[in-house]
Amino acid sequence: MTTQVSFQIAPASRMANVSYAIRDLAVVADQVAKQGHKILYLNIGDPCTYDFQTPPHMIEAATKAMRDGFNGYGDSLGEHSAVEAIRARAERRGFQGIRGVMVGFGSGEVIDHCLTALINPGDNVLTPCPDYPLYGAVLGKISAEPNPYFLTEENGWQPDLDDIAARINSRTKAILLINPNNPTGAIYSKETLEGIAELARRNNLLILADEIYDSLVLDEEQKHISIAALAPDVPVITFNGLSKAYLVPGWRIGWAVATGPEGALDDYLEAVYKLLRARLSAPHPFMYAIAPALNGPQDHLIEVRNKLRRRRDITAEWAARTPRVSLTAPHGAFYAFPKLDIPEDDKVFVTELVQQKYVLCVHGSGFGQRPGTHHMRIVYLPPEDVLRQAYDRISEFMAERYRD
Ligand SMILES: Cc1ncc(COP(=O)(O)O)c(C=O)c1O
Repeated sequence: MTTQVSFQIAPASRMANVSYAIRDLAVVADQVAKQGHKILYLNIGDPCTYDFQTPPHMIEAATKAMRDGFNGYGDSLGEHSAVEAIRARAERRGFQGIRGVMVGFGSGEVIDHCLTALINPGDNVLTPCPDYPLYGAVLGKISAEPNPYFLTEENGWQPDLDDIAARINSRTKAILLINPNNPTGAIYSKETLEGIAELARRNNLLILADEIYDSLVLDEEQKHISIAALAPDVPVITFNGLSKAYLVPGWRIGWAVATGPEGALDDYLEAVYKLLRARLSAPHPFMYAIAPALNGPQDHLIEVRNKLRRRRDITAEWAARTPRVSLTAPHGAFYAFPKLDIPEDDKVFVTELVQQKYVLCVHGSGFGQRPGTHHMRIVYLPPEDVLRQAYDRISEFMAERYRD
């Protein structure tokens, strides 16, 4: 006879610190979709969901690697050809003093290991607010103390350097910046980057620079500058990957490049490498698409940026003509973070928006925002007709709701 027990498996208490707003709201959308409604998804930064196609030569390189038998584990830090291509690209973008290259399951995995190897419980990393929620989730998992600094909407969403300076304390280990930014679409100025580098110098801090959108700069007058190129004397870990600009988020290929003064990063990098060795390797055959992607034709990027520019403009035009919506124009990536002049919580707003008009965006509070402000994050990857339909529905929702 089997014993009847009622199992109760409790999660670790640190999991109370972990949330991921982007996927959380998708659960609400799933319920709405199950009722038979067709949802317009403006919530996930996956270009392959829309009309963007992976460059064929990358597919050829990955499938050739499979046919050639690269189906076992690969090198833990990254296959030689991949590491060399990443290093060469970084050098073309002005990086000097490269101390290490690490390839992982998307940049997300490398970010996780780089934070885990850095932080003791109670330490903190200065993280932007608003922020891409992966960072908060990983920092929560490793029991870091939250230490957000504000991005300033009135100043093109540039980081508030005084706010960063005021928040540095004895447990601060690093400053994180996301440039081009998710969720605001901002590109950081040279002055901002110089200011951040100077704070790192004065306070002996590591800089973590997430540059996964560095090829998706939409306006000619805006130039992306890598902080690693600007401040070769400061230890910097720069994250990047194939997911966004090379249109293969499902291949899970990302990397980090470590730069800085000789010797400064040795012990730390060895700790990161230990974690990378423990998980064996990134997806092996897909690593063989890194060199063809970075060194091969870049023509697809012209089309991607042209499409995104038009979609960004449609988004900005809608925001400009819609009462209660104001948008600091995004210049890079494929996100907009308009401010909402609404009385209720923005999570209530986006939840009822998907329930009533079947348009899915993510609430600003899921990314963090200045107290008392409300926003929503829009992913403007969908084709123009879908975007226009979505914006008409949001306008209709707001007109019915606020009657002004
Ligand atoms: C700023 C930022 N960093 C990192 C990632 C993770 O990308 P991946 O793990 O696919 O390289 C994303 C994904 O949306 C992102 O927006």
